[in-house]
Amino acid sequence: MSRFVQQQRFGGPEQLEVVERDAPDPGPGQVRVRVAAAGLNPVDWKIGQSQQLAHVFGVTLPGGFGNDFAGTIDALGDGVLDWAVGDRVFGGRRGAAVADHVVAEAASLTRTPDGLDDEVAGSLQIAARTADAAVGAVAPLPGETVVIGGAAGGVGVLATQLAVASGARVLATASESNHDFLRELGAEPVAYGEGLVERLRAAAPEGLAAAVDLHGTTTIDAALELGVAPQRISAIAAGADAPAGVRRIGGGDASVGALGRIAAALADGSVVLPIERSFPIERIREAVELQRGGHVRGKVVVSMR
Ligand SMILES: NC(=O)c1ccc[n+]([C@@H]2O[C@H](COP(=O)([O-])OP(=O)(O)OC[C@H]3O[C@@H](n4cnc5c(N)ncnc54)[C@H](OP(=O)(O)O)[C@@H]3O)[C@@H](O)[C@H]2O)c1
Repeated sequence: MSRFVQQQRFGGPEQLEVVERDAPDPGPGQVRVRVAAAGLNPVDWKIGQSQQLAHVFGVTLPGGFGNDFAGTIDALGDGVLDWAVGDRVFGGRRGAAVADHVVAEAASLTRTPDGLDDEVAGSLQIAARTADAAVGAVAPLPGETVVIGGAAGGVGVLATQLAVASGARVLATASESNHDFLRELGAEPVAYGEGLVERLRAAAPEGLAAAVDLHGTTTIDAALELGVAPQRISAIAAGADAPAGVRRIGGGDASVGALGRIAAALADGSVVLPIERSFPIERIREAVELQRGGHVRGKVVVSMR
């Protein structure tokens, strides 16, 4: 038997149950992955509580939960030549990932490099592509100063390190408890909230060249007030509130090969992605509550071991 997390109806974590079923069989061009870890993203619980958003993402209930996963291939569908049973992989499958087994298109998977553990690999599909896209859209240059708004979350930790690696000076907004951590990543922390514009002006009297808003619109608004051109501002969580000209970005805008490059950097230790907490599948509701609280450093993961 194979466990998976099922959501019966729209609502919060109380709607999630661990149920058992037969392990699904892969169809042509698909593989089955024995999942070791599934990283959670805000979109998972947002879909779970909104029929409208679920419709946008093609999710219907009752159904599964989660998107990102990592594990080991344990069955191959017809016509799959590029993978073998036993290969370590990570990927994404909407509304299906928090489970002992996931069936996925073989071509959608990325090889997990040696040295990268499944909890981190299973946290990459959404966050790493989105971080790459959000930073890439504003292309920070050495000598420029860029602000990353919401720098301590799953996307933020990776975006901050990508921006630092570009050679730019990086101001990173977070609450006080994350400031030392962001300094370790090479960024200069700034508190978000009331007075952000004044703090950014004081931190960068030479001016800001670019901004990446990973939380809402407050970093966008501050950057515009400080004279940043809209086309050098990217946003992933502003939705329709994004001011005209700002680059609205999603994971689908990632550069070719971004996942593999970021996975390799995590494996060699040049990039880090902290796992704030890992929960066994039976404690899925607690895992989602923590993620939904909005103050996770790095990722929350569900373990299927
Ligand atoms: N468009 C897309 O394709 C796409 C892709 C991925 C994510 N998203 C969206 O982007 C957002 C971030 O995703 P994520 O995975 O990084 O989420 P996350 O891991 O849950 O983000 C948590 C972080 O948000 C920070 N935060 C909380 N309140 C904040 C505020 N007022 N200002 C700035 N930062 C604040 C927290 O920092 P402190 O703990 O320091 O307070 C925490 O580190 C979510 O809304 C998500 O739905 C969109």
